[in-house]
Amino acid sequence: MKQQPDWPDGKHLEEVVARLRQMPSLVFSGETRKLRQALTGVNEGNNFILQVGNCAESFSDCHGPKIHNFLRIVLQMALVVKYKTGRQVIKIGRIGGQYAKPRSDDYESIDGKEIPSYRGDMVNDWAPTYEARIPNPDRLLEGYFRSAATLNLIRAFTQGGYNEIRNLRDWREHFFSRDISRLPYYMKLEEDLTSALENKEIAFNATSERDEIFISHEGLLLDYEEAFTRIDTTFGGYYDTSAHLVWIGNRTRQSNGAHVEFARGIGNPIGVKVGPDCDPDDLLTLIKKINPRNEANKLVLISRMGQDRIRKDLKSLIQVIKSNKLNVVWVCDPMHGNTFAHNGYKVRAFDDIAAEIRSFVKVCRNENVIPGGVHLEITAENVTECIGGINGLTLSGISDNYATKVDPRLNAAQALETAFIVSESLSRRD
Ligand code: PEP
Ligand code: CO
Repeated sequence: MKQQPDWPDGKHLEEVVARLRQMPSLVFSGETRKLRQALTGVNEGNNFILQVGNCAESFSDCHGPKIHNFLRIVLQMALVVKYKTGRQVIKIGRIGGQYAKPRSDDYESIDGKEIPSYRGDMVNDWAPTYEARIPNPDRLLEGYFRSAATLNLIRAFTQGGYNEIRNLRDWREHFFSRDISRLPYYMKLEEDLTSALENKEIAFNATSERDEIFISHEGLLLDYEEAFTRIDTTFGGYYDTSAHLVWIGNRTRQSNGAHVEFARGIGNPIGVKVGPDCDPDDLLTLIKKINPRNEANKLVLISRMGQDRIRKDLKSLIQVIKSNKLNVVWVCDPMHGNTFAHNGYKVRAFDDIAAEIRSFVKVCRNENVIPGGVHLEITAENVTECIGGINGLTLSGISDNYATKVDPRLNAAQALETAFIVSESLSRRD
């Protein structure tokens, strides 16, 4: 089985998994079906997926003000896309369980010593010592409790009316940098919204779009995911109740692999990352396995090709899928194919991210399929992990506030700017 931690004590793991099986579900399958229902509207051109959040969520991200700020940025991004494109936005966080990471190398070298790679807070500790990196199953339980606490606050905010448009000004508070308020298109949007509110063209308490914020994570640790896979006693069928949507990463999507085998048995919508090395025949087998009834709202293919390869590689995959009449929703991850190294830091350039989004929309349009969403690694903090964009960050400033544990994220201003780029690409008719 690929990408599973090398747990040192199998009995300890079994005990933890037995406890997890007794824990209440995090989400109700009725919510998951609502998400599937919303996904139906994507290929009808009515809905758009905004799946955003941390690359690797930390246990310390389970903190009220951080979650609040995350909502502030997500709601603003959703508002931009909604008012610029007229599409409803399906908001899905990479949050409330994004605690496990696949790694290319099992070991990394720190000061000349080989230590196990960091695999996410649910597996081991980020501190660069051998001891800290030994996988500990107690972290699975800790991850569950922190996911529950995170989701609880998200639900509290949404149910308490926080995503009503009248809170626009509050969403802007705290992290809203000087830079972003200079963005002409942001100023224009705010003016338009303020006047629409004053003239009662939009109701003061209108929600920015659908109420829900769904949660998602990579369904990587199969012991954990299986412990939360439960039968829906009301309507029947098995669901992974650890999140509304789980995705299979680019490293674990082999059609004969354990992750695909797991995904085919559950009623959740499934994301699958597809990189430039994706074999079309294997992808067809995977799609037929996970979605044997060819349902329109089941499979979300998340293209992560890199801006230099997307035109050619995405086009050929879309054509194969179309010629087999298979139903999928196409989403663009413009992050994971555009990473480079600089002085030991992993970096991404805003221009590459923007270019991949634009190409994604173009390729989809040329092939007559709907560009259904974006999948972004973002944080509400003012980090310096991606260069370019409105902040004008450069490589020389990378170390100023480089805080990610795995991949470089868009900071709040860059994330919001990306929402404008997405909206502009969707609105273009060339
Ligand atoms: C990720 O989404 O953080 C990730 C590891 O992506 P991928 O599987 O596409 O490499
Ligand atoms: Co990542």
